[in-house]
Amino acid sequence: MFTPQPIGFVRSPFKNTEAIPKGLGARHEAEGVLDILPAFRLGLTDIDGYSHLIVLWAFDRSEGFDLMVTPPSDDRPHGLFTTRSPRRPNPIGLTIVELLGRQGGELRVRGVDMLDGTPILDIKPYLSSIPAEKLRRGWLAEAEARKG
Ligand SMILES: C[S@@+](CC[C@H](N)C(=O)[O-])C[C@H]1O[C@@H](n2cnc3c(N)ncnc32)[C@H](O)[C@@H]1O
Repeated sequence: MFTPQPIGFVRSPFKNTEAIPKGLGARHEAEGVLDILPAFRLGLTDIDGYSHLIVLWAFDRSEGFDLMVTPPSDDRPHGLFTTRSPRRPNPIGLTIVELLGRQGGELRVRGVDMLDGTPILDIKPYLSSIPAEKLRRGWLAEAEARKG
């Protein structure tokens, strides 16, 4: 379909996967930098007006996939596409981050859950229009209820 090319790389405090918070109640408050390559920086024009961004990125350090997985947030297996497993047929990650500031091609953000050096594929503004009462949280809500 197309050959993905990085538009930049994440600078993150996480050098290994064990350091990244996981499981029920994990909070993603870590700060990092989205370092956008010079060739793509013009595309950041007007980004300062947004509080939150959707970052699409590549799980460049995972391999293969299973269609049923037991995620860290539950002790029961679930379909891959109902999880955020890093092992997927197309290893694309999606993280919503808060934009804290910008210096040229460097976006300082809060909420990174990527390893240092992760390739960034795309950035889009976060604009949620789904009212909270319309959201259903699937097996995750059940796992949270079981754990109290
Ligand atoms: C559960 S995934 C969720 C990622 C993203 N928020 C999503 O929903 O697509 C986050 C985990 O991916 C793994 N990870 C982070 N960066 C990675 C990378 N560059 N390559 C492979 N695995 C990575 C780490 O184990 C991290 O805890």
